[in-house]
Amino acid sequence: MRLIYKVFILMFLSKVILSEKVFKSVPVTVKTYENDTVLLPCYINTSETNHRVRWYKNKTLLGDSHDPNHLMPPHTRMHANFSLQIDHLTSRDTADYTCEVIREEPWKPIRQTHSIEVQYAPTVRSLPDDGFLEVKKGEYVDFGCEVTGTPPPIVNWRKNGESIALLEHRSRIRFRAEHRLLAGVYECIVDNGIGDPVKAAITVIIQDAPEVSTDRSFVHSAIGLRAVLAAKIEFSVPPARTAWYRDGRPVKTDDKVIIIVQDNIHQLIFRYVREKDFGNYTFRAENKLGMADVSFKLTGVPNVASFKVDPALNKATSTSFTLIWEVDSYSNIIEYHLWLRPYYGRPSTTEDGLTTNLPANLWSKIVVPGDSSVGPIHSATYTVRGLTPSTVYEAIVASRNGFGWSKQSPVLHFATEPGAGRTLPSTSDYTDITQLLVEEPEEAYNITQARVFERYNEPSSAGVKKTISLLNLVFILFITIPYLLS
Ligand SMILES: *[C@@H]1O[C@H](CO)[C@@H](O)[C@H](O)[C@H]1NC(C)=O
Ligand SMILES: *[C@@H]1O[C@H](CO)[C@@H](O)[C@H](O)[C@H]1NC(C)=O
Ligand SMILES: *[C@@H]1O[C@H](CO)[C@@H](O)[C@H](O)[C@H]1NC(C)=O
Ligand SMILES: *[C@@H]1O[C@H](CO)[C@@H](O)[C@H](O)[C@H]1NC(C)=O
Ligand SMILES: *[C@@H]1O[C@H](CO)[C@@H](O)[C@H](O)[C@H]1NC(C)=O
Ligand SMILES: *[C@@H]1O[C@H](CO)[C@@H](O)[C@H](O)[C@H]1NC(C)=O
Repeated sequence: MRLIYKVFILMFLSKVILSEKVFKSVPVTVKTYENDTVLLPCYINTSETNHRVRWYKNKTLLGDSHDPNHLMPPHTRMHANFSLQIDHLTSRDTADYTCEVIREEPWKPIRQTHSIEVQYAPTVRSLPDDGFLEVKKGEYVDFGCEVTGTPPPIVNWRKNGESIALLEHRSRIRFRAEHRLLAGVYECIVDNGIGDPVKAAITVIIQDAPEVSTDRSFVHSAIGLRAVLAAKIEFSVPPARTAWYRDGRPVKTDDKVIIIVQDNIHQLIFRYVREKDFGNYTFRAENKLGMADVSFKLTGVPNVASFKVDPALNKATSTSFTLIWEVDSYSNIIEYHLWLRPYYGRPSTTEDGLTTNLPANLWSKIVVPGDSSVGPIHSATYTVRGLTPSTVYEAIVASRNGFGWSKQSPVLHFATEPGAGRTLPSTSDYTDITQLLVEEPEEAYNITQARVFERYNEPSSAGVKKTISLLNLVFILFITIPYLLS
């Protein structure tokens, strides 16, 4: 094996040395431009005479020094010193040019190869030609940019102006339209360093069922006031047919109830709310790929109350605490229900799944009378007495007007001051808690109380559809990369 290698290496070396000896010119690669002229050398040791030179373009014979009748292509000629001259270069002249020297026996012919690369600026054409592609969700999207240029251009892609990190500079892109967010303007930027980069764009449209949302699904009003239910069409391709419903029947519009559409915002406007207008409404958007609903409740019940935290006004003592809250209601508040219980921390679960939440912390209800003001902002103050010193309590409030009970407020945590007869680790722990208004998830209530609240529980965010996260989108893009064509 070793011997064979050595023989090959020797053969190779001798060939190189021989060629070097005869050719005075060296192989060159000429990078040039359109319309230029190139002179390719074929100079050999002049002490030898009577040799013959042939030029080849790639593998095709161009000319022969001993055959003056052989027609050279246009703009091409061989000089007396055997140099090959090509004028008015075009992209078709990009090739390998081999000069072959044929000598008298026993010498074998020797060859030297030069290259010409006629550089020219890139061109680009979008695929499809019109630059538009519309598919249904789930179908494949297949588009690209057809490019020319020497040297071969590099293709980079942008989507809606942001570059896409593809692993290769591919000119064709194919993926499954898994999500409507994959729609957008895809642009290829084609550059080969000659002239300016060129671009082409393809607008990808993905058809999908509508998506609707609302900022407020629980709309609080009163008789005689103006009220607006507003739904937003987040997306719909093709455009959706829309309608407002009440109890499954289309809403009848008249001079008091009107529908206004502005861009993608659809409003059902009650110019003067009447008693019979209170109720449940649905906005529906539908196209050939599906439909979406968003529900509303037009109600006269008070809004959710909120506790105010102000150490100066809360006036905590060891056995009492002053609670302050505010509520929006367009009619007077008849009564409040204030719910209170000592707070022992969240129920913790042991390893065997048992809940250790002792002692049981029961809610006690306090009925606080309302006011006679018409609002819309009502505030109430109530001092709870007979509390245990140095204890954290939880409080919730609900309000009732002529239309019924509001939903319950978020939970307020407050603490009583330390008092005589009981020692405590630290008072500062509690001063912090006093200032803390915590919104807790609505859970862990005593079943009995839960039933009380149940009546006022509203599906607050019903109809607001989940939006795919950016992370998911990136994921989709990357899992589709293997499907991309080259
Ligand atoms: C040319 O060839 C002669 C004889 O073959 C040799 O002696 C001489 O060195 C060569 N000259 C060059 C420049 O290679
Ligand atoms: C080359 O010459 C042709 C004809 O004269 C002309 O149309 C073309 O623009 C020229 N190209 C460049 C790059 O100058
Ligand atoms: C070969 O001939 C061409 C045309 O006459 C000339 O331009 C070129 O300089 C010559 N090359 C050498 C090495 O003499
Ligand atoms: C010559 O060969 C090169 C490389 O294979 C190719 O790119 C070029 O187009 C060919 N030129 C012609 C005129 O056939
Ligand atoms: C409105 O919808 C809720 C459930 O979202 C339901 O409990 C209530 O009875 C409905 N009200 C009317 C008037 O249909
Ligand atoms: C819930 O509260 C009621 C009284 O308000 C009480 O009778 C009942 O035992 C409590 N249930 C639990 C599980 O704490």
